[in-house]
Amino acid sequence: MVPFFMSLQSTILKGLESFLSKRIENFIRARTRVREALFFQTFEARDTDVYISTFLKSGTTWMQMILYQMFTHGNMDFEHIYEVSPWLINEAGGKDGAERINKLNNPRIFKAHEPYEEFDPKNKNKFIHVYRDGKDVAVSLYHHRKNYKDPNETLDQIFESYFTGGTYNWFTYTKQWLENKDRFNILYVNYADLKNNFEETILDIARFLEVNVDEETLTRIKERSSFEFMKANETKFGEQAQAQKIYNQFIRKGNLGDGEQLSEIQKKAFSVIYGKELLNLTKQRRLH
Ligand code: A3P
Repeated sequence: MVPFFMSLQSTILKGLESFLSKRIENFIRARTRVREALFFQTFEARDTDVYISTFLKSGTTWMQMILYQMFTHGNMDFEHIYEVSPWLINEAGGKDGAERINKLNNPRIFKAHEPYEEFDPKNKNKFIHVYRDGKDVAVSLYHHRKNYKDPNETLDQIFESYFTGGTYNWFTYTKQWLENKDRFNILYVNYADLKNNFEETILDIARFLEVNVDEETLTRIKERSSFEFMKANETKFGEQAQAQKIYNQFIRKGNLGDGEQLSEIQKKAFSVIYGKELLNLTKQRRLH
């Protein structure tokens, strides 16, 4: 039996732990905001910057590698893809400032998961928006979070946080990007088309970005952005080094149709929320 004073002590310690954790979280959040503000004071935006706009787990890294191979000779002499294709908001929250990014050659390729409304409505950049079936995203995200964030998180919790609720919600995010109310210069690319019709999709991207892709370059893009090549070089992609992270899961399977693992109720909820509006938008954007 736990003596009364010991159980009291443990209650107080737990309360204190939770109080301090919240304070630390708030402190880290505030420090990140300050760092972002400092970063964007020195960051020089350029009209030639290309943004890859994607919801989480929609093929962002794949597209980063494709564009990097398309714009350069494809040298693999980097430790992590972020050196050649930064995740801007992540860099902004770090402590290194924007100097390195300001020195990158044009056109710079930025990864972005931000909602549409967070971009300047007057921006003149080109965007590649990669669309992936939301159900497949849910399963991919479940594995990602299990490996990198919380091993106990369930698919139900993921579905609730990112699909039926939450502030960063797949449906809202996707709808806003597909509506494109401010008429950004966006090329919509379907993950499934990259899987099923790679060469044609690559040539569409090249036309949009006004890059000449010859046979040799196309062969290199195909080889270096293949699932097998990226899997074999996995440490250059995905989350960066931290002891508790599992490395052989970022380039995980790259399948179409994993979303079938959702329960019947979840699939039904998905198609109800998707509704006609999103279906029409995806048709308009030639994503179906
Ligand atoms: P899965 O978890 O379904 O395998 P993001 O880069 O946006 O986080 O997306 C990650 C998803 O893209 C993962 O999906 C990953 O396996 C897949 N992916 C990464 N590189 C790929 C490639 N070369 N070909 C196909 N899928 C790839």
